[in-house]
Amino acid sequence: MSMKLPFFRKKRAAAIEDITLENPPNHVAIIMDGNGRWAKKRGLPRIAGHKEGMDVVKNIVTVANKYNVKILTLYAFSTENWKRPKAEVDFLLRLPKEFLHVYLPEMMENNVRIETIGEFDVLPNHTKAAIQYAKEKTSNNDGLLLNFALNYGSRFEILRAIKQMMTDIDESKFSVDELDEQLFSNYLYTNGLTDPDLLIRTSGEQRLSNFLLWQLAYTEFWFTDVLWPDFNEEIFRQSLLDYQQRKRRYGGI
Ligand code: FPP
Repeated sequence: MSMKLPFFRKKRAAAIEDITLENPPNHVAIIMDGNGRWAKKRGLPRIAGHKEGMDVVKNIVTVANKYNVKILTLYAFSTENWKRPKAEVDFLLRLPKEFLHVYLPEMMENNVRIETIGEFDVLPNHTKAAIQYAKEKTSNNDGLLLNFALNYGSRFEILRAIKQMMTDIDESKFSVDELDEQLFSNYLYTNGLTDPDLLIRTSGEQRLSNFLLWQLAYTEFWFTDVLWPDFNEEIFRQSLLDYQQRKRRYGGI
């Protein structure tokens, strides 16, 4: 037994070194695009792509945790997605419940905390109930924050913030002169979160689609042609390694 111990230790150390990334991004935001095309390529209905995409969410949460990412914000349903056929909207809004039904125990084991950004109140009751339960159940976890953007739209978020701020100014909670970037940020859904360090968009599209317009001001962007259901640890790791090569100057030199 004692003969085997040094070998075992060495092997473990090598494995850990292999997965460690220095200075991982604190906050990664992902536009998970390409589910429909993934399904079409296989002659499957679009919802099959969304289902596959849901399982990839679970894998990527595990990988983000492993690489010490602290916040993972995933664009799961935008305010514009209501325009899709009703059956697809219904399916998409059932996914959080399905995801939590299958994976909440694993999220608990991994110390993941679940939160959302977006207009929560108007979501279907079954979606809200499942998410509310998960938020409460995971509220004391202090590992990765898994932040689902659900019924989220950035322009709506900004207008909502302005309306709330104007009410607070009317009620003399603060004056216009006191308004600065920090105070404005406090009115966004992302209040309390650091801005994303890295934004990933899959499927070859290179646009923001009304996602975190204020919060992405200094974020590094990373695009891949890979469709979301094909996104995996290797590609995610590549995005993290590329991020580490970027020189972030925030407007300075
Ligand atoms: C965009 O692909 C994707 C979406 C609108 C939905 C994303 C949702 C998931 C990946 C699953 C979310 C999981 C949970 C747990 C909530 P698209 O349908 O626009 O693809 P296309 O551009 O190829 O048509």
